[in-house]
Amino acid sequence: MAVSTTGVELAFGNTFGIGSIAEDDGLRFVRAPGRVNLLGEHTDYSEGFVFPCAIDLDVVIGFRPRQDRLVRLYSADYDEVVGFSLDRIDYDTEHKWSNYFRGVASVLLKHDIIGRYGGTLRGMDAVVKGDVPEGAGLSSSAALEVASALALLGASGIEVRRASAGESPSPVELARLCQEAENDFVGVKCGIMDQMISLLGQVGSALFLDCRTGAYELVPLPLKGLKLVMCDTGVRRGLLQSEYNRRREECEAGVRLIGEILEERAGLAPHPEPGVGAAPDHGTSRGIQTLRDVSRAEFEDIKEKLPPVIAKRCAHVIGENERVLKGVDALRNGRAEEFGALMNESHESLRDLYEVSCEALDTMVERARTIPGVLGARMTGAGFGGCTVNLVREESVSQFLAEVIPQGQHRAKDKHEFGDSAFSHVPRAFVVEVAEGAGPLNAGR
Ligand code: GLA
Repeated sequence: MAVSTTGVELAFGNTFGIGSIAEDDGLRFVRAPGRVNLLGEHTDYSEGFVFPCAIDLDVVIGFRPRQDRLVRLYSADYDEVVGFSLDRIDYDTEHKWSNYFRGVASVLLKHDIIGRYGGTLRGMDAVVKGDVPEGAGLSSSAALEVASALALLGASGIEVRRASAGESPSPVELARLCQEAENDFVGVKCGIMDQMISLLGQVGSALFLDCRTGAYELVPLPLKGLKLVMCDTGVRRGLLQSEYNRRREECEAGVRLIGEILEERAGLAPHPEPGVGAAPDHGTSRGIQTLRDVSRAEFEDIKEKLPPVIAKRCAHVIGENERVLKGVDALRNGRAEEFGALMNESHESLRDLYEVSCEALDTMVERARTIPGVLGARMTGAGFGGCTVNLVREESVSQFLAEVIPQGQHRAKDKHEFGDSAFSHVPRAFVVEVAEGAGPLNAGR
């Protein structure tokens, strides 16, 4: 898997013509991978812990810088061309895929990132091609954002390096910019996980990330004799964006309520309105800014006082953070079975407490667990459809691939059969390898 530069080059020639490419200003390539999150779901926007790895599915952009500020983009996947000037970047309701690129360009300009690192803003002709399935919970959006950022910076003379020593934005800075593009331009209030792993992934390792501080560690995965197998349910839900944003609001409501309850208990008056007195304008004087600040003991003590739905959401986040810490410790010590059991618990929590699973995901997880050699199975990503991730012993992989998708589902279903949860894509199971994070790509891959 992974996109070949040859295909991108061909599409570039067909769309923009390659005859005029001067040797020193030829076609360049960047790539950014999708990811699978192994543990730590719906924790990033509550400043919690996550544990994703980059996978061998990616978005490749082949680009040729222009002398002016025009951007012409061809999506090989949608077979559409869009054009816009970097002097005026509007949301495109017709070619929605282009908004990730537009959003990143707009955020880079807003913060004068190109000027700050000594580059000269230039437009480009570019071809975008990806093989990260969309809406499958494997982060095709972040891959496109990160590839867009690398192309825009590259066209403007700035090469992004991991250890940047100040001459280019650091991966953490770049991840925040891409997240801002998705939050403010595209309108999805996502956390920082996907952009971070797309930039920082490393072959053979997963990223143990503290979403509060941005501190991270690449933890080698003891995957000897084990495989990561994805099951794409084929389900794509239109509701995803609104439900995702609602979960985020519910966590924020939980933080406010818990803060008030704890303050009352401590005999403090609830904090004054913003701007009145000396209190900060967010959080509480107990210092609760996000669910990360609420200990398990505190939560157990007060959970009865919370509205039931809010209590469930908070319970998931607090439990999931604990699972990441336990899971990382288990893997560091080679206890893959224990890690698998934590994946299973994570699924139960996402299904029952956070309520972001769906029938197709639950069915795939249940079927997977009947197959011997499956250490853990859970939904991955935002949920409401998309994929499950399964940790499977190598010798069981072929049985898994043959049996996990119920017979008769290896075909796209008619939308009418499933109403809102249409199987708009064919359910399928496939093995992924842990891949390197984003960067330039040599022609000829
Ligand atoms: C999406 C978001 C991430 C994260 C996950 C759920 O992938 O982009 O920031 O919140 O959902 O863990």
